[in-house]
Amino acid sequence: MLPVIAALDVGVLKALDLVKLLKDKVAGFKVGWDLVFEGGISIISEISRYGNVIVDLKLADIPYIVNRVIDKVVEKGACCAILHGFLYPSLPKGDRLYVLAKMTAPTLYDEVWERLVEQVRDVRGFVLPGNKPEVVAYVRKKVGCSYRIITPGIGAQGGRPGEALRAGADFEIVGRYILEKPDRVTEWAGLSSRCFNTP
Ligand code: XMP
Repeated sequence: MLPVIAALDVGVLKALDLVKLLKDKVAGFKVGWDLVFEGGISIISEISRYGNVIVDLKLADIPYIVNRVIDKVVEKGACCAILHGFLYPSLPKGDRLYVLAKMTAPTLYDEVWERLVEQVRDVRGFVLPGNKPEVVAYVRKKVGCSYRIITPGIGAQGGRPGEALRAGADFEIVGRYILEKPDRVTEWAGLSSRCFNTP
């Protein structure tokens, strides 16, 4: 499998075509608000028949509510979900959670991401900007192989295929660049995850 997570930011029919096309090529699929609003929560079960599913609702609420939402998406077949790191220290823990620590676009995370990476523990991994390989390299050095690192920001947002992987990421999250031309996944041939085989 290529170390790519396809971000399915498209309608239901197009998403299903894409998962059928990419199921033996990419390590997983990311499902966000777009698809859940259009297809309902059952779209998660549908897509998880074809591969690993990360649900990206960028959750940001009290732990009780976040845990309830995560229970529901995991029940539907997702491995895990992405939530906002700014919740720290009121951040739920566990292997089902990816923590967004710094975004591809400028945000207030730019002022706190190093602290988050230093202090957040007992989660599945971190979401970091793939268009900033130096950030990925810094975090990998800090956390070793204790946590997964997944990175959006490739293609449409300037990151080049493979750059974040070479800096230490496990999987590159790619939306528009491969949604527009699915054959582009071949650009990841020969690349591999730094530490984990599954997203
Ligand atoms: P593109 O089309 O830019 O899609 O490849 C990126 C996907 O990743 C999700 N995502 C983020 N995108 N900065 C981003 O630009 C982030 O920090 C981030 N975290 C997650 C985005 O929602 C889209 O699905």
